Amino acid sequence: MSNLVFVAKESVAEETRVAASVETVKKMRGLGFDVVIEAGAGVLSRIPDAEYEAAGARIGTVDDARAADVVLKVRRPTSAEIAGYKSGAIVIAIMDPYGNEAALAEMARAGLTSFAMELMPRITRAQSMDVLSSQANLAGYQAVIEAAAVYDRALPMMMTAAGTVPAAKVFVMGAGVAGLQAIATARRLGALVSATDVRPAAKEQVASLGAKFIAVEDEEFKAAETAGGYAKEMSKEYQAKQAALVADHIAKQDIVITTALIPGRAAPRLVSRDMLKAMRPGAVAVDLAVERGGNIEGAEYGGIAEVEGVRVIGYPNMAGRIAASASALYAKNLITFLETMVDKDSKSLGLNRADELIKATMLTDGGEVVHPNFVDPDQPTVNKGDL
Ligand code: NAI
Repeated sequence: MSNLVFVAKESVAEETRVAASVETVKKMRGLGFDVVIEAGAGVLSRIPDAEYEAAGARIGTVDDARAADVVLKVRRPTSAEIAGYKSGAIVIAIMDPYGNEAALAEMARAGLTSFAMELMPRITRAQSMDVLSSQANLAGYQAVIEAAAVYDRALPMMMTAAGTVPAAKVFVMGAGVAGLQAIATARRLGALVSATDVRPAAKEQVASLGAKFIAVEDEEFKAAETAGGYAKEMSKEYQAKQAALVADHIAKQDIVITTALIPGRAAPRLVSRDMLKAMRPGAVAVDLAVERGGNIEGAEYGGIAEVEGVRVIGYPNMAGRIAASASALYAKNLITFLETMVDKDSKSLGLNRADELIKATMLTDGGEVVHPNFVDPDQPTVNKGDL
């Protein structure tokens, strides 16, 4: 009998994405799976049920989850959803595990073998499974689009018979995946772009996109990157020097986009009210770190806040605002990972628990929380960049 994959309709209202695309349904069928898509799961990502059906899936209801060997989701399942899965089921999603140890324990008690896609190691073999990159890239693009939409001025310089519109000045704080795409997008729209980061490797990447790099380049900066390529938390002294440099620069900017994150920790506070006050009327800021506490003082989760005359956009799930593209890439990340769990010849599901991708992402298994970062919640969080 074939193994069954269930693709859930996301139960959190603001989640627009879906965990399977037409392409990945075809792939799963090819791998020998029966696929059930919960009715309407793809609607907000512009995938009608009929398209999934044409690709070989059956359209079902939440009750079909009970028989599933594999459940694919965007977000960690809720208690009600967990109760609907069979013990031993594999559940793969963006699990948001830090600070949610109780939810992990619940998945363990339900006997689920659960995987957090965002813990995927950043090694070459897993690049096509890297949800942080696939979603952050789109979030960076969308941040610029959202900012441009409320800016009330043009981004490119325009020389017309009626006069000249100056190019907008865009400053991107945090030049990781999201920040680099924000830089590239703002440049494509004709803005004058500058960027900052605490990782020295970012300097060259920023320059190669045609943006100016702004940073305090002292000894601490030169050492500020983990083996995994992530940022470290900087000293108080460095943060003070960085703030002084940024304050000066921000006063001349029209749009600020912040993307700074440190894995497993609250986002660093980079823009103060005073800095916003120094910006010119009509300035716009976008805080892409709002879900992790925010980089900008006064940013409001879920909306646009007017802070010292600057409109600060604090939309969570920015990738979800470009849902059709985000789902296509997320679904591809998932299928690539799922493929590693299938024996190609027998087309049977079999986990290789010794595989480094499995070890790095498996949260719960056999009734226990098994991931080293979450086994004992009293232990300090391990920075995943150090793993
Ligand atoms: P992230 O989402 O963890 O953080 C975003 C950015 O904020 C980072 O560049 C970080 O250095 C920066 N940041 C943190 N604190 C800051 C502060 N106080 N001031 C200014 N900036 C601050 O990072 P993301 O996007 O996941 O990228 C991290 C690195 O991983 C990048 O070098 C990226 O190119 C690399 N990467 C490697 C992959 C691989 O497969 N080898 C795949 C994807 C990314």
